[in-house]
Amino acid sequence: PSGLLSDGLGRPLRDLRISVTDRCNFRCSYCMPKEVFDKHYQFLPHGALLSFEEITRVARLFVAHGVQKIRLTGGEPLLRKNIEALIEMLAALRTPDGHPLDLTLTTNGSVLARKARALKDAGLQRVTVSLDALDDALFRRMNDVDFPVADVLAGLEAAERVGLGPLKVNMVVKRGTNDHEIVPMARHFRGTSIVLRFIEFMDVGATNGWRMEEVLPSAQVIERLHAAFPLEPIDPNYPGETAERWRYRDGGGEIGVISSVTQAFCRDCNRARLSTEGKLFLCLFAAEGHDLRALLRGNYSDEQIAAAIGLIWQQRSDRYSELRSTLKADTGSGQRKVEMHYIGG
Ligand code: GTP
Ligand code: 5AD
Ligand code: SF4
Ligand code: SF4
Repeated sequence: PSGLLSDGLGRPLRDLRISVTDRCNFRCSYCMPKEVFDKHYQFLPHGALLSFEEITRVARLFVAHGVQKIRLTGGEPLLRKNIEALIEMLAALRTPDGHPLDLTLTTNGSVLARKARALKDAGLQRVTVSLDALDDALFRRMNDVDFPVADVLAGLEAAERVGLGPLKVNMVVKRGTNDHEIVPMARHFRGTSIVLRFIEFMDVGATNGWRMEEVLPSAQVIERLHAAFPLEPIDPNYPGETAERWRYRDGGGEIGVISSVTQAFCRDCNRARLSTEGKLFLCLFAAEGHDLRALLRGNYSDEQIAAAIGLIWQQRSDRYSELRSTLKADTGSGQRKVEMHYIGG
């Protein structure tokens, strides 16, 4: 395969997001609401999950096709047993011109304090930590399992200490729930090397009760921040970046806004997603994926699987966020969108 693969809209394949478990110890209402993900919910059985060998095999094929960044997600990726071993295997991969990958992970931070050193030693380059509030009572309510904010902050500190930076913090903003934490969060991370990013509450999956009234448009986030700490826009780090970047005029560092709802960024979307059970999804909002596990467990060669991946990407035309406003709720075809904890953000 060549690195010149491009999809039906001319977009290259650069970024692979791999969900390593569909489980999580949090129950954020915008992702895994307690009413749905209760003690009766059937998570995937162990045999359905891709093994580390299978993940690494398929990752190698994606890298040969041009992928430069791999992000492990979940559910909560640090709940996957012995995740360090997978990181070690992925860290050994090289791009066709011999470079290591940008290897990273998005975590809720709950066990990061304990794991940061081992993750770094295994070859992880950086982490992004989700954190929706600094106020302990509100944070406990948002994760809905009464998890204390201090433990996540300790995880961030540990990650910083072992060199898992530059760190990013993701805050999902829900109007009426945590939007009053926007300025306090900014104040807390200003002047550190941590990049705080505000994410518009998205209509992922079919169970999170999404309503437009609970979305605070990023333009208003910027307005509120700018009133407290003057900001100016800066250029993207790379084409197709999810976040729009801003910096504090006084040199206090940078922030980002991720505006999937009010300012879609599908035009340059170079991301593929591999679900926990090995399905390839071409969009966060897709209803169906392509079963790569069947190929991995069938009698197919690397060349055959690489060719299948290439064809799937070349036929891609997904751009859900751009079309959202013209679509009826829950996709026109009546199909259910896949859940975020399974496809991995
Ligand atoms: P960086 O490499 O640090 O730029 O990370 P990232 O922004 O690609 O990944 P991260 O896991 O931090 O995602 C941040 C937010 O953007 C999450 O809420 C994701 O669900 C969302 N996101 C990431 N990729 C996409 C995408 O392709 N489409 C949409 N609509 N949202 C996305
Ligand atoms: N809208 C926006 N962001 C979400 N995330 C999870 N669910 C949603 C949603 N409905 C975020 C998590 C994490 C990232 C991978 O996705 O908080 O930071
Ligand atoms: Fe878990 Fe992250 Fe989903 Fe919250 S957003 S339930 S921490 S996977
Ligand atoms: Fe990419 Fe789909 Fe997100 Fe658009 S909505 S940026 S196509 S994942």
